[in-house]
Amino acid sequence: CIAALTPKTLAGRRVLVSAGPSFEALDPVRGLTNRSSGKMGFAIARAAAQAGAEVTLLAGPVSLPTPVGVRRVDFSSAQQLLDAALPLADQNDVFIATAAVADWRPVEVSTHKIKKAPGSAPPAVAMTENPDVLATLAALPRARSGQLYCVGFAAESQNLVELASAKRLRKGIPLIVGNLGPDTFGRDDNSLTLIDASGAQTWPTASKTALARRLVDEIARRLPPSST
Ligand code: CTP
Ligand code: CA
Repeated sequence: CIAALTPKTLAGRRVLVSAGPSFEALDPVRGLTNRSSGKMGFAIARAAAQAGAEVTLLAGPVSLPTPVGVRRVDFSSAQQLLDAALPLADQNDVFIATAAVADWRPVEVSTHKIKKAPGSAPPAVAMTENPDVLATLAALPRARSGQLYCVGFAAESQNLVELASAKRLRKGIPLIVGNLGPDTFGRDDNSLTLIDASGAQTWPTASKTALARRLVDEIARRLPPSST
């Protein structure tokens, strides 16, 4: 049996993964979201569990089955994601932020469905910036001291290494994983570029399952020695 021969690279580690899009309500039936399928994040959660980790998956609105052995907590908005993630920060050793969090949300959420009135102009939607969940967790003392290893994802449409490197520094995280999108959204394969303080390395296109396994092992190698 291959599973029995595979070393459990994350045994005894606790891993938090965010995945999928956020949904920012405008009224009870409408909202803003994006095309993230959640596939990469779910594959990472599955791979981390298979590598022996205790995994909590913070899942946005996606229609994917919960990976076996993974604890799933659903969120809808960016604020809900932050509220779920913050108390879990000091119970985890790794935070892998794959969620495509909406950068902005409507300032006001209408209690009732916004109706058309004859001859009226379309509603103007005032927006406000959402909290940055990854940057918030990365700024915690537990992350700054290296006990919570934070990994970001960056989908860029151009200048991947340059933009993702700047993003890594801005968020104060040791590792960011970039890919050129949006053509990867919803697909089953992907090509990843890992960027850390020493530079960039690109992994060839593979299935999201294979990339998730490789990434999980790569992250495991970067963790400080386990205290247990
Ligand atoms: N992220 C987050 N909370 C946000 C926005 C982003 O946790 N409000 C996380 C994502 O999960 C991802 C990383 O930050 O791991 C980078 O997200 P991205 O959207 O690429 O970066 P932004 O800082 O939002 O910059 P921009 O969208 O302008 O490129
Ligand atoms: Ca963004």
